[in-house]
Amino acid sequence: MAFDIGTPVNSALLLFILYSVHRIILPSVSRPKTIPHEFRSGYSWLPKTHPPTVLFKTYTPKTLVPFNGVDSERILLAINGTVFDVTAGRNFYGPNGMYGNFAGRDASRGMAKQSFDVEMLTAIDQPLDKLADLQADEIENMKGWMEHFSNKYIICGKLVENDAV
Ligand SMILES: *[C@@H]1O[C@H](CO)[C@@H](O)[C@H](O)[C@H]1NC(C)=O
Repeated sequence: MAFDIGTPVNSALLLFILYSVHRIILPSVSRPKTIPHEFRSGYSWLPKTHPPTVLFKTYTPKTLVPFNGVDSERILLAINGTVFDVTAGRNFYGPNGMYGNFAGRDASRGMAKQSFDVEMLTAIDQPLDKLADLQADEIENMKGWMEHFSNKYIICGKLVENDAV
């Protein structure tokens, strides 16, 4: 069938093609009459507030303990001297979580021994747990937890002795 410009369908098609080409060559540009002060359509490429920043800080057992999820929204815990912000895992590390005892504390021994009991914790006025008695498999456990935490949570500081700062 030959292309017949005369049929209504072809005319409509031709008009559409011409219109499309015209739009491609000369895209319509609408210039606002006034310079907008804010982007109005409920969608902005700039965040309204600065995203929260995480400062790398030095904590001691005593300054870490307020971040136990009870006195604070933020939940921190330490493993082998590294402090992690586990706020995002509140269900686990918050007050009613399975690992709630570790919130605001040095969790090293508990992680190593796979025990989440309070007996695993060192009193906050005592020197840091040196973990010298841990067996190779327990050290491996702790390392595994640290790797998991490093992938999942934010490292936000280090834990040092109470009298070190
Ligand atoms: C724990 O920390 C000590 C001192 O920084 C380091 O020598 C050791 O390798 C760490 N252990 C693990 C399991 O990461």
